[in-house]
Amino acid sequence: MWDDLDGSDWAGAASRPARHRSSFVPAERAPDADGPSPESGPEGGPGPQRDPAPDPEPAPDPDPAPDPDPTPDPTPAPDPAPDPDPTPDPDPTPDPLPLRRSRREGRAVNLAETGEVPVQHQRARRAAGVRLVFGAMAGVALAVGGAAAITAALVSAPLSSAAELVAADAQLEPPPPTPVPLPQPVEALPTPMIAAAPAIVDICAIPAFTAALGAGDDSGAIAAAGGADVFRTAVASGTAGCVGLGDPARVWSVVNKTRPFDPVDYRPASLTRPDVRDIAAGDLRADAAASLREMFAAAAGAGAGELALDSGFRSYSTQRTTYQRLVSAKGAAGADLVSARPGFSEHQSGLAADVTACSSGCIGLESFAGTAQQQWIAAHSWEFGWIVRYEDECTSITGYSPEPWHLRYIGPELAGAYHAGGWRTLEEFLGLPAAPDYAD
Ligand code: DAL
Ligand code: ZN
Repeated sequence: MWDDLDGSDWAGAASRPARHRSSFVPAERAPDADGPSPESGPEGGPGPQRDPAPDPEPAPDPDPAPDPDPTPDPTPAPDPAPDPDPTPDPDPTPDPLPLRRSRREGRAVNLAETGEVPVQHQRARRAAGVRLVFGAMAGVALAVGGAAAITAALVSAPLSSAAELVAADAQLEPPPPTPVPLPQPVEALPTPMIAAAPAIVDICAIPAFTAALGAGDDSGAIAAAGGADVFRTAVASGTAGCVGLGDPARVWSVVNKTRPFDPVDYRPASLTRPDVRDIAAGDLRADAAASLREMFAAAAGAGAGELALDSGFRSYSTQRTTYQRLVSAKGAAGADLVSARPGFSEHQSGLAADVTACSSGCIGLESFAGTAQQQWIAAHSWEFGWIVRYEDECTSITGYSPEPWHLRYIGPELAGAYHAGGWRTLEEFLGLPAAPDYAD
């Protein structure tokens, strides 16, 4: 029985980006008369699966307001596109007319010469163009003095254009107003989509909560509190004095380098052997054992492959032996990164399980990261009340190198809230300080 191994690579693993698979350190293994197999000390492994980042929102329309003036503008808007003809104007005389007028004249000339108008906006521009051509020709005719000249000018224009002029003017003067929808009155301001933090509830003042608590019914207490989010918020805020995070019998108990068992040699009232494939006949608390069995079956049913329990409950004395062996191999600092000291291991609660992948045989914990089983566990273990306790990049809080195989049972209610909230350490989830190291 071991608890892990090679601390030499650990510092490198701790600095790797989150969810990047890390290399592993070979695990030492040796039979342990105390029962469970040792926990290997590989490092890294992907954390829980996240929603790809949402696509960035499209940039809002800088001027979404409708035009308050319902009167249609018969003049086409100036075209901001650059002149496709970069040839400089040979006439250095500045054009006194603005671009819009020049283009309009250009269209009039085009109409007079070819009888054609641009395809786009043809109907709208035809009226303006027709009027311009007509006016231009009439002006010229008047300038030379006489109705005969006007007639000659009209006759000299292409026949189709002249006919269009008359017909278009007859139809377009005055131009029919184009109905423009008026802005609709705002009935209500949009509601900001801001996730509200649950209110802090004095759950210890809820009789049903304290009754369930007194009966040792953790699930019933969470339900009576108003659900896992309400429970968590109350506990994390420090207002739930009746909830003891140091009670090792509770699914919400927290054991870490600053929170040893009390008593230090605590042992669960009852343990059971889960009916699962195992490496060293490990036991678990009954609720954790039942959930582990269900989870392993679900993984196999999903095609993720077979899982086995590598190590479950470890007594104080077993953990002492394990830890001392690692100290001998790695020194205290190396051992402390991969193994808990006796009295500080979650395995002593009966609520922790080291799991590994199997086919015909089972692989060592150091090879678990990256397997289909590990990926399935990372994505789905919360559905069965388990969390991956020591994730990548969380060593500064947990005090341990990543262990994708070390699962902690906190019950389906709290595990659901943990997953939904994107939490990565039990310390942060329950509002506890980081525990990177022992006090002494
Ligand atoms: N390997 C984990 C930290 C333990 O010994 O409990
Ligand atoms: Zn473990």
